[in-house]
Amino acid sequence: MKKLIAGNWKMNGSLVANEALVSAMLSGMGSEEPVADLALCVPAPYLAQLQHLLKGAKLALGAQDVSAHEQGAYTGEVSAAMLQDFGCRYAIVGHSERRQYHGETDALVATKAQRALAAGITPIVCVGETLAEREEGHTEEVVKRQLAAVIHTVAHCTSEIVVAYEPVWAIGTGKTASPEQAQHVHSVLRTQLAAATEHPERVRILYGGSMNASNAASLLSQPDIDGGLIGGASLKAPDFLSIAAAAR
Ligand code: G3P
Repeated sequence: MKKLIAGNWKMNGSLVANEALVSAMLSGMGSEEPVADLALCVPAPYLAQLQHLLKGAKLALGAQDVSAHEQGAYTGEVSAAMLQDFGCRYAIVGHSERRQYHGETDALVATKAQRALAAGITPIVCVGETLAEREEGHTEEVVKRQLAAVIHTVAHCTSEIVVAYEPVWAIGTGKTASPEQAQHVHSVLRTQLAAATEHPERVRILYGGSMNASNAASLLSQPDIDGGLIGGASLKAPDFLSIAAAAR
């Protein structure tokens, strides 16, 4: 299975900037088959534009969140069915910024993952510890607790999720986890997945947190790092493509 490199644009972009960025990415990709699976997770207002821009491209469309509800009186939320309307292949769930700013709980994240799967959308389930949790030696306990809630809810569909290990202290800080630090946590998550599904190797575990063109190769060469969830570097076509090229 190919590694997955997914960009998370977060709350960035405009119709004009998006067109320029995607055009630069597509021309940089050329006509060759990418060595990795590629995706862009964009703000919901731009899904229609990106669906058009990515038509026929080897770059999948993703969302940055999905409602835990099927439909109804949930102002401002976007359902899995709506994401399906725009051809979304992926949806990030449980990003630390949503856990922090929107109080998303492990149970809510698990329900979101289930909603995505039910609509044929692959959830990218984010787990990760804060600096305080790492310094207090709670990293494994935290990420296992976060993943366990999703495994418990999606159960026999566990092999259909993607997991992203994003140490909160590495997100947007330039302080990337070392390849050894990341590999250790990824191996813990792989062991947890092995107890929940017959094919843990089918679950891609991405690393996220200041991955960039210069450190991507050393991270992606680790045995249990199956790709990256890229924030800042996904807003620059050359950087995103360099990371993608390192994912062989
Ligand atoms: O979801 C990916 C993001 O949290 C990582 O951000 O800017 O550290 O690559 P960044």
